[in-house]
Amino acid sequence: MDYRTLGNSDLRVSRLAFGCWGITSDFHWGERDEQASVDAIEAALDAGVNFFDTAEVYGDGRSEELLGRVLSRRRDQVVIASKIHPRSMRPDQVAEACERSLRRLNTDYLDLLQTHWTDPQVPIAETWEALLKLKEQGKVRHVGVCNAGTSDLADVCALQAPVSNQLPYNLLWRAIEDAILPACRERNISVLAYSPLMHGLLADKYRSAAEVPDGRARSRHFSGTRPLARHGEPGCEEETFAALDRIRAIAREAGRPMADLALNWVAAQPGVDCVIVGVANAAQLAENVRFLERGRESDLREALTRATDDLRRALGPNPDMWQTASESRYR
Ligand SMILES: NC(=O)c1ccc[n+]([C@@H]2O[C@H](COP(=O)([O-])OP(=O)(O)OC[C@H]3O[C@@H](n4cnc5c(N)ncnc54)[C@H](OP(=O)(O)O)[C@@H]3O)[C@@H](O)[C@H]2O)c1
Repeated sequence: MDYRTLGNSDLRVSRLAFGCWGITSDFHWGERDEQASVDAIEAALDAGVNFFDTAEVYGDGRSEELLGRVLSRRRDQVVIASKIHPRSMRPDQVAEACERSLRRLNTDYLDLLQTHWTDPQVPIAETWEALLKLKEQGKVRHVGVCNAGTSDLADVCALQAPVSNQLPYNLLWRAIEDAILPACRERNISVLAYSPLMHGLLADKYRSAAEVPDGRARSRHFSGTRPLARHGEPGCEEETFAALDRIRAIAREAGRPMADLALNWVAAQPGVDCVIVGVANAAQLAENVRFLERGRESDLREALTRATDDLRRALGPNPDMWQTASESRYR
């Protein structure tokens, strides 16, 4: 397993981070087998994965609880990242949210606490000051952001640069390439790429939009008429599945699984220090570790990028997967 140091911190984390959104059941993932999640976490630890990403909002706190149960015996060997609930961004709420996360995770410090999304009613600098106070108190070792656009980044950097910015980035979702990724690189902020398999689309699970369950069809790839979608846009289903067909052809030619190419493509992007992958079981975890350990696909990178250029143009510059441009939470 490869490791990277985040931003200008001393946090040394595995290139593959274990994404804990889907370790318990919810509206997005449907029913999850918690024992399979526990087995996957144990398999990750055995494979050298030391970085675990959760959030208060995942499973309404149950993701943090489950993670806390499994990791508490190995607390000093792991790096735990959590996130402030999007509705807890006011300074007084930040401290309470942190206490709740500590309790559920069964620990007295977090290695990384991140803003999850911004609240338009609360300037991010106010939230950031409250997070820096938690750092001074030793409850949090480092602070980071998620889903921060260039203006939010400038606002927090005026106080103290975050060690990382967690962003949606994969072959089917490349909007951050325009401005946010370069801004992070300029400021030495580590990019943690989330949804690297686009919720399974890049693991070659689905051949048409109709096959994708409603929870996973909320992103702007899909029609805004899907029952759980919030964006109301026409979507880009044709372009998405045409891009997947092209990626599948490249994968077949190379004799490699699509997920292998997708994970290595994103891991190889300059500025991306970590790939946060969600898994349903230990077998998927082991497979992803193997894919990333086997290495980069430098000869295929250009072809894979070109295969998704049309989709990138169709989706436009809004990096928010779930909301239309006028309601995008990126600033
Ligand atoms: N900061 C934020 O706003 C934010 C937003 C989203 C995610 N995240 C973080 O990023 C993490 C990962 O993103 P994600 O969970 O959205 O999506 P993802 O990693 O792109 O997709 C996860 C899904 O891909 C499938 N998969 C994974 N490995 C596989 C393999 N080897 N073979 C076949 N299928 C495989 C599984 O689907 P099945 O369940 O169908 O098997 C799994 O549930 C989250 O857990 C969370 O920690 C953060």
